[in-house]
Amino acid sequence: MTTQPGPLGARAAAPAGERLDRFRRTPALRSLARETSVRGGDLVQPMFVAEQSAARSPIAAMPGIDRLGATGWAAAAEAIAAAGVPALILFGIPARKDAHATGAWSEDGVVQNALRNIRDAVPEVALIADVCLCEYTDHGHCRILRDGASAREETLEALAHTAVSLAEAGADVVAPSAMADGQVAAIREALDEAGFGDVAILSYAVKYASAFYGPFREAAGSAPVRGDRRAHQMDPANAREALREAEQDLAEGADALMVKPALACLDVLRAVRERCDAPLAAYSVSGEYAMVKAAAERGWIDERATVLETLGAIRRAGADFILTYHAREAAGWLTTSA
Ligand code: PBG
Repeated sequence: MTTQPGPLGARAAAPAGERLDRFRRTPALRSLARETSVRGGDLVQPMFVAEQSAARSPIAAMPGIDRLGATGWAAAAEAIAAAGVPALILFGIPARKDAHATGAWSEDGVVQNALRNIRDAVPEVALIADVCLCEYTDHGHCRILRDGASAREETLEALAHTAVSLAEAGADVVAPSAMADGQVAAIREALDEAGFGDVAILSYAVKYASAFYGPFREAAGSAPVRGDRRAHQMDPANAREALREAEQDLAEGADALMVKPALACLDVLRAVRERCDAPLAAYSVSGEYAMVKAAAERGWIDERATVLETLGAIRRAGADFILTYHAREAAGWLTTSA
């Protein structure tokens, strides 16, 4: 077989005088030629709010991120907002779990309490509430189960109920992450019926069954007791399917889409960006954070440079905003970096 000269082969030499490094010579010139930027304003800080009273309990695989008890919520939110991060996404760690995930939609649930508390303390911050059942079910699945199998109607009902309850408590955005088909439509309908037409839906439209969620499950105590999530989260081998997920969720009324995890899915992020015009988020998940922290602690990589390069790459791939455990720290670096 002979190789055909491609377009590059056909063009043997650069056009006369072409030099790609002239605009790299000084910081000022590099600034002008820069195609992608990251601002603190592009970031969302995830926060674990716990019902237990301890002020903070550390998460082994996520240095710098704690489970916060009620006395710590307002101060943490203030520090995040002061760093220039405009939004938080809240994950709840309830004291009790049950088969029906009642803690997810209880008026006095841990996330509901945190939303009210943070809204009072830091009115300007955008509050995003994750909508899932796995932190609240005693079996750790994102679904309501009947006879060991997932019960679709009950699951959608519980998710819709949860979203309304979070809206009542002050969420600006609800973010369904259960990967239950039809969840966006069910939530939109329930929100509108309850008078929450202004509450937006950020759909975890493209959520892979990823090994990178490990530290989160330790933090939230949400690992399934039996089985895994591969029957509803996406197969990491698939990219075309991601476009169908994204289109379906937009058709169901999603206001913004998310791809998760981020680093292992930059190609998917780019593909969704090219297909959809809605605001697009990427979730740089717990395992991505843990890897950077672990290597940085050993002095094997430069944490700040690695994080800023990674966030830039996620933006370059097409994300408008990024959920990252590094948000507060990175926002600080971004205000001081050249
Ligand atoms: C809830 C949920 C998970 C994450 C976000 N929402 C866990 C999971 O799906 O198992 C993971 C986030 C992270 O790893 O940082 N379903």
